[in-house]
Amino acid sequence: MLHSFGLCFHFLLHRCSKWDYYNSTCPAVFDIVRKEMECHVLSDPRNATFIIRLHFHDCFVQGSDGSILLDDTIDLLGEKRASTNRLNSLKGFRIIDKIKNKLESECPSIFSCADILTIAARDAVILVDGPYWDVPVERKDSKTANFDLASQNIPTANEGLLGIISKFLYQGLSVTDMVALSGAHTIGMARCENFRARIYRDFETTSGNNPLLDSKNARFFFSYKKQTEKPLQ
Ligand code: HEM
Repeated sequence: MLHSFGLCFHFLLHRCSKWDYYNSTCPAVFDIVRKEMECHVLSDPRNATFIIRLHFHDCFVQGSDGSILLDDTIDLLGEKRASTNRLNSLKGFRIIDKIKNKLESECPSIFSCADILTIAARDAVILVDGPYWDVPVERKDSKTANFDLASQNIPTANEGLLGIISKFLYQGLSVTDMVALSGAHTIGMARCENFRARIYRDFETTSGNNPLLDSKNARFFFSYKKQTEKPLQ
């Protein structure tokens, strides 16, 4: 599961990051994040899934810059209420707040929330028996968020394969990365409304989408059909 998680999301770093950035200022950062994540995942394993998904939704909008964590203000429209994140679908914000508070009390004004979320997501994967990878640090927190990109860039439950692939390609990620990262769905939960259309084979009726009306999907469907209908030699 998630073998390429770290490698893939390295593409999405906001700027070039380092491995040893906190060594002189707060070497305990990795231990502190790990301990906090251990407590949260031990108390409820679902907490691991919240942080992993939060990291994904952060990285797909302007890179891994913590923009997903920003609340709406008078002059900032955050990403939390974008169609892909709303209705309480994204969780884990409080966990990141708690870790940030803990780190602030140990080493004030040093960490970016983007780094904290990235390290916490790696630890979440380890704590549910996934693989380890080193996390480069020194991400800068974004002061802006992008509601429109959050609605456009993140794949949706009813999206066709080609749409999902193109959203990953747009991020500089390959089809292999997409398949590996989708391994994140071996844990966690989804609301019934997000998958019932696919399992009961009434996708058109229940989702309001007709895959054949999307010209790209239609081309794929018909060429696939043509190939599979070829008589066996
Ligand atoms: C490939 C395209 C993807 C699509 C279409 C997609 C879509 C979804 C949807 C619809 C849900 C259920 C949300 C809900 O009902 O509240 C979900 C859950 C989840 N997704 Fe994805 N996702 C994708 C890729 C990813 C990636 C790349 C990751 C992380 C590497 C990820 C991590 C998760 C996790 C951990 C959950 C479970 C969250 C929970 O338990 O609350 N997903 N995803």
